[in-house]
Amino acid sequence: MRRSIFFLVAVFAMVGLVTLVAPAPGHADGQAAALFVTEIPQGYRDWRWISSAHEAGNLNSLGVVLGNDVAINAYREGKLPFPDGTIIAALHYRYTPSEENNKVFGQAQSFVPGAPTNIQFMVKDSIKYAATGGWGFGHFGADGKPGDAAFMNTCFPCHEKAQGSDHVFTRYAH
Ligand code: HEC
Repeated sequence: MRRSIFFLVAVFAMVGLVTLVAPAPGHADGQAAALFVTEIPQGYRDWRWISSAHEAGNLNSLGVVLGNDVAINAYREGKLPFPDGTIIAALHYRYTPSEENNKVFGQAQSFVPGAPTNIQFMVKDSIKYAATGGWGFGHFGADGKPGDAAFMNTCFPCHEKAQGSDHVFTRYAH
């Protein structure tokens, strides 16, 4: 009797485990639904600088790209693909002329980060985000609100073009 109870407990434990590790249900066509980063990773403002980028046109932004320790180490060691645990943050601001600096220079030449527009993240988890190249994409407006699904679905198809650098565009600025 004791043995059969023990056996039953073992069976239930195994069934539980299998349920835990079973993949999340996907779409009927067998494709897993894309998952996005829905919470702002902690402490990103203290991460180290990878590079900066200015986008003109409609974006008119000044961006700074920061990485957590895993990201920085991978960049410095030239490790590709980026290991799980990598997080890259892109902080975007309005590209704004600085009247204050221009006065000092005596001509219009200075641009600085103006109002923040959004923060974007790429979080590497090769299992959780397998459907999007192992990267979870996150976008948060200046109000902290995440981007809607239609907008979030645009991230990966474009980042997929960064072939040869694991879907990441930004190079490490030495
Ligand atoms: C039309 C193409 C395109 C789309 C769509 C796009 N990105 Fe990017 N992204 C880029 C390019 C090019 C860069 C590098 C230049 C820059 O930082 O402005 C970049 C940079 C980044 C970076 C810094 C790491 C890197 O790859 O260089 C993050 C993080 C990022 N994007 C997140 C996102 C998120 C989140 C979305 C969706 C909401 C998104 N991107 C949509 C093209 C795109």
